[in-house]
Amino acid sequence: MERLKTGVEGLDRIVGGIPAGRTMLVTGEAGSGKTIFALQFARRCAEDGLKTVYMASEEEASDLRLQAAAFGWSLEKLEKAGRLEFVELVGKRATETEAVMGIGIQARKGNFGELVKLVPRDTNAFIMDSLGSQTANLTPDEFRDRFDLMIHTLKKRGITTIVVLDSATSHELNDLAMFSVYGALRLFKRENPFTGRRERVMDVVKMRSTMTPIQLLTYEIAGHGLEIVSGPDRSDEKM
Ligand SMILES: Nc1ncnc2c1ncn2[C@@H]1O[C@H](COP(=O)(O)OP(=O)(O)OP(=O)(O)O)[C@@H](O)[C@H]1O
Ligand SMILES: [Mg+2]
Repeated sequence: MERLKTGVEGLDRIVGGIPAGRTMLVTGEAGSGKTIFALQFARRCAEDGLKTVYMASEEEASDLRLQAAAFGWSLEKLEKAGRLEFVELVGKRATETEAVMGIGIQARKGNFGELVKLVPRDTNAFIMDSLGSQTANLTPDEFRDRFDLMIHTLKKRGITTIVVLDSATSHELNDLAMFSVYGALRLFKRENPFTGRRERVMDVVKMRSTMTPIQLLTYEIAGHGLEIVSGPDRSDEKM
């Protein structure tokens, strides 16, 4: 199975990258690093020559560029080369998009089909950060139907997708999304039982057709973004 690098080196080494043309879910509490992970993936894809689209529902592209620049990633050159494109669902540019498309933010909420229509035709990699704010008042059944259809549509188009879902989204919707996707990562903080110190950990909850570690991967957010600092040894892997 073809795989794409996430840009998180340690993770790519351990799982071999994420399956191409499938959807991965990234969940986690506020401040756990979901957006940084998503930006790191977007940059890696664009650097690797893929047409990459980052749809931001909570932050403006200018803030995302600033966050990236803090890690020394200059996204502007990738944007100029047409390999990276931000689609804003908030902010000034979003209002312009709305005027052109003739649909408003409220009308789009909960309408995942409309969101997918905003993804340009030649897209290879797509990041939705985050879907949580777009779930509106969907019932669990509605959410599952629309989410499944969205995943199906993206798969048919051959687009490798990262969907970010925050912990503000109900447990029920989180669990439903978890079942539908090909793979899922959960980011959180915990107290290390041995050192008593807080640390950031990543759980590879699932990744179909991939050898995944059962252990939590400890990571840091440092000078160059998200970095795995301790992982499992090879004997600890499960299918
Ligand atoms: N340059 C940096 N160096 C080190 N740590 C940083 C840097 N920039 C951000 N961080 C850390 O990363 C955290 C934010 O990560 P990120 O924005 O990816 O979280 P998130 O999971 O997307 O949160 P939310 O659910 O609020 O969107 C910050 O709270 C901060 O602790
Ligand atoms: Mg975020």
